[in-house]
Amino acid sequence: MNAPLLIPANGPLRDARGRSKRKLRVSLTDRCNLQCLYCMPEHPKWLPREQILRRDELVRLVRLFVTELGVREIRLTGGEPLLRRDAVEITAELNALRPLGLDRIAMTSNALRLAPVARALKDAGLDDINISIDSITPDRFRAMTRGDVTPVLAGIDAARHAGLAVKLNSVVIRGYNEDEVLPLVRWAYGEQLSLRFIEFMPLDGRGLWTQDKVITEAQVLEQVQQEFAVQRLPRTSEPAEYFLLNGRYRLGIIPTISRPFCSTCDRVRLSATGELYSCLFSEQFRDLKTPLRSGADDAELAHAIRGHVWHKEAGYAERKGYAERPITMHHLGG
Ligand code: GTP
Ligand code: 5AD
Ligand code: SF4
Repeated sequence: MNAPLLIPANGPLRDARGRSKRKLRVSLTDRCNLQCLYCMPEHPKWLPREQILRRDELVRLVRLFVTELGVREIRLTGGEPLLRRDAVEITAELNALRPLGLDRIAMTSNALRLAPVARALKDAGLDDINISIDSITPDRFRAMTRGDVTPVLAGIDAARHAGLAVKLNSVVIRGYNEDEVLPLVRWAYGEQLSLRFIEFMPLDGRGLWTQDKVITEAQVLEQVQQEFAVQRLPRTSEPAEYFLLNGRYRLGIIPTISRPFCSTCDRVRLSATGELYSCLFSEQFRDLKTPLRSGADDAELAHAIRGHVWHKEAGYAERKGYAERPITMHHLGG
């Protein structure tokens, strides 16, 4: 499809396919203290620190997205966002944008370092947190992430006690953890914790993905139906499909591969180095750090952002398989 030449000069951020952008995912760092095999390359090379946006730069960009471009929800990601020492301060500074139109500050974390800062994050203005946990069996968790599940469980507990809404994310990969589906559901059901399974996406940094390693929504449901009565709930604007188990528990599945939701995609992404990606699978980005550091004003930055987002690709729905991307998942934060 050819985009019309006239890129809108104002109004909410949108693309030429009629999708408006209300959510911005901001990566705080490319560094991570786990090595999940569906995300990290085996030998990650961390970006030089001077290339990472400073707090004032990051907050300035987010402010622009909120005041000029209609973004209403921010999700802080990584790498692991809590490896950034000023994660609480960043949250507090973003919280000050609420009167300007920001409705939600969320985070996606591996929770290894969450327990000691959960309360401070809540007090600083964090609304909710999505936590990755692909197994609750210590050996299996370690095999997938090279880390210890104990501090993750402590982080989940601390977040709940601090009053943060928690959702658990679990990537399911054939041959690695498909037999963890039922144990995870039983545990989350018992704990009344919100859980979403995620179809493995071709974005890992080590060439692991193949179509046959994807455990699809239908295959997850097949397992869950062995023990629970399952009822599909109406679709929302979230990436997840939701199912009611035994009439009382909501289970989510994010079906990017078997049922892409690109036609309603309402998000854009900012890497830790200030690169704007309009799609998770984009091969093109727009560098915002260079103009930011060479004195561009808000109008110039907003113009650059609008232009880039206007040309957003159709997405995974029209371009299946591995993306030839200039960066890997740990740079962009999912
Ligand atoms: P909320 O819906 O706001 O709660 O967050 P989220 O589910 O978008 O965030 P999270 O970081 O927990 O992501 C969960 C999974 O969904 C990850 O595997 C993401 O990569 C994936 N995901 C998030 N946004 C998109 C998207 O726009 N497109 C696709 N294909 N996957 C996405
Ligand atoms: N496929 C699906 N989900 C992934 N995530 C990271 N890499 C992949 C992948 N290749 C998930 C993590 C985290 C979220 C940000 O993205 O589990 O919860
Ligand atoms: Fe949006 Fe791209 Fe994900 Fe599709 S693949 S939902 S367009 S980010």
